[in-house]
Amino acid sequence: MQLAASTALAGLLPSVALAGEPLTNVKKSAESLPDPLTSLKDITSYNNFYEFGTAKDDPARNAGSLRTRPWTVSVEGEVNKPKVFDIEELLKLAPLEERIYRLRCVEAWSMVIPWIGYSLAELLKQVEPTGNAKYVEFISLEDPKQMPGQRDATLNWPYREGLRMDEAMHPLTLLAVGLYGEVLPNQNGAPIRLVAPWKYGFKSAKSIVKIRLTEKQPITSWMEAGPSEYGFYSNVNPAVDHPRWSQAKERRIGEFFKRPTLPFNGYADQVAQLYAGMDLTKYF
Ligand code: MTE
Repeated sequence: MQLAASTALAGLLPSVALAGEPLTNVKKSAESLPDPLTSLKDITSYNNFYEFGTAKDDPARNAGSLRTRPWTVSVEGEVNKPKVFDIEELLKLAPLEERIYRLRCVEAWSMVIPWIGYSLAELLKQVEPTGNAKYVEFISLEDPKQMPGQRDATLNWPYREGLRMDEAMHPLTLLAVGLYGEVLPNQNGAPIRLVAPWKYGFKSAKSIVKIRLTEKQPITSWMEAGPSEYGFYSNVNPAVDHPRWSQAKERRIGEFFKRPTLPFNGYADQVAQLYAGMDLTKYF
């Protein structure tokens, strides 16, 4: 009797997938790379997530305070059908795929990460972008109570990033909800983050609460923080150095020798045509 009651109660409760729990029904994607994977330990302990501190091990240490339920993502702006999506709905919006992508940070290190998610285009199609939608802005959570790094003015909070509409609709552009077969760890941007693998890692906003389609190019947090160092496009480009260091090579985390950085992080065949006619030495 007791067992029956608790089973019935469990049936009424929403099934909440929290960090570290396995994600099921994930299919392999043709977009995956053959590169050896970076270890789960490195992916989850060497992070940039300034909302939890600026040291690489701060996010793993501090992101336990992030509450990922309840969580909603408002998709708004230049769309015919604006909607606030609950995270449980987003987890089921499209079939989950494992996509093994390179992540190249602007700081000249890289990783190979088996993300789980689906193309951002799947979500954007649902809200019906209007003809005026030229850009997409991504806004991360702002809550200094949960995010101790936001008590410092390291960046203008909330963290904001953006893509051009055709970049956002490109099939490689991923909304990630997991990695290594599991629900996304908090330090990697739970419960939902962007991954744009041909761009420097800072474009891939974590813990997103708002996606806004706009006519004008959004100003991102990094453009505000360092306009001479960080531009809107930020495509990985070994030929254009950061003002303070070379971008020609990178250190793959877990490896000893540096390796050459590839144009568009190795995704040139898929994305170079998006920038036809643009001077890529200018559009950092
Ligand atoms: N998103 C938010 N909200 N805050 C951040 O500080 N850092 C960016 C990006 N997304 C950042 C963010 C940077 S610089 C990088 S390299 C990647 O997240 C790192 O992702 P990872 O820690 O999962 O490897």
